[in-house]
Amino acid sequence: MPRLHRQNYHDIERIIEFDFVRATEAAALNSLKWLGRGDKEKADGAACDAMRGMFDLMNICGEVVIGEGIKDDAPGIFKGEQLGTWLPGTPQFDIAIDPIDGTTNISKGAPNSISCMAAASPEAGVKVALRDVPSFYMTKLAYGPRVIQYMHKRGDSLQLEAPISETLAIVARALEKRVQDVVVMMLDRPRHKEIVDEIRTAGASLRMISDGDIAAAMAPAIPESNVDLYMGIGGSPEAVLAAAGIKCLGGDMQCKMWPRDAKERKKLIDESCEKELDRIFFADDLADGKNIVFCATGISDSALLRGVKSQGTSATTYSVLMRAKSKTVRFIRATHDLTTKTIRLRSDNREHRI
Ligand code: FBP
Repeated sequence: MPRLHRQNYHDIERIIEFDFVRATEAAALNSLKWLGRGDKEKADGAACDAMRGMFDLMNICGEVVIGEGIKDDAPGIFKGEQLGTWLPGTPQFDIAIDPIDGTTNISKGAPNSISCMAAASPEAGVKVALRDVPSFYMTKLAYGPRVIQYMHKRGDSLQLEAPISETLAIVARALEKRVQDVVVMMLDRPRHKEIVDEIRTAGASLRMISDGDIAAAMAPAIPESNVDLYMGIGGSPEAVLAAAGIKCLGGDMQCKMWPRDAKERKKLIDESCEKELDRIFFADDLADGKNIVFCATGISDSALLRGVKSQGTSATTYSVLMRAKSKTVRFIRATHDLTTKTIRLRSDNREHRI
């Protein structure tokens, strides 16, 4: 009888990836009770507690390299936190995490909130898989595979800084649509006034969202989303998480740091990234390598995922799980029997009914 080999950690993401989905599912389910309750900190706290609790059951050495946005005073999961059991010899993962993207949406009971994370195991030739961008915001332009293929045939790519009317015309041709049928998603913010005017002048169709630009930036890479382009200025941690998802979906994103004011600009320059300030980061620059897993669970409905549907003793969650290596995209609809289902919470290290 041939001897069996011990488990090695080749392709470890395949083994562990469903536990990542359990973590985003748990965060979504545990924060649901705060939907529309006007308390975003409580919602975030509930999501973090459940996520940490799920990681406590995972035999990995997970290190958070990108945590919740630096703007948050919320009870978030921040950079440097260790997740998993950290038992000696267990596999390492760098983790980017947002237990809730769209916390304000949850507090208002509004659409467009998800729980999501990306994880990267060590890979030869990849120094930093998930890049911790030092600016608070980035300018973003995200698009799907059909636009990339169209540009590729022309030996060209979309340009983040090209006039918006030009970009819209290219996207319209790539998708065989009229410009007025091109749907652009964007955060509704005063800082976008000029871009909004340009989009309206060009005649494209604008969809403004109040919060949650990870799902929004990923939407153009999902044909059923009915979103063709994402543009505008949003959080940098959110850009990296979106980049991880977008690259698994075969889309792309271009981003550039957007200092809020002269003080932040100076700080970024002092931190020796002057030349980085003008750099255009593509999805591969923000989420490098093939050993990347991305997963998200909808909390309230978004262009990416439906939100949790809870009815009586059952709840249904909608998640997406994908890997950069295989580019397999799994949409997972899970039915949870609330009479039997429990969630481990870190706060008291116990299993809880939802
Ligand atoms: P939070 O859920 O952490 O509050 O983030 C929501 C969000 O809308 C992000 O999706 C987006 O990138 C960022 O905030 C935009 O920041 P701001 O609200 O400052 O414009």
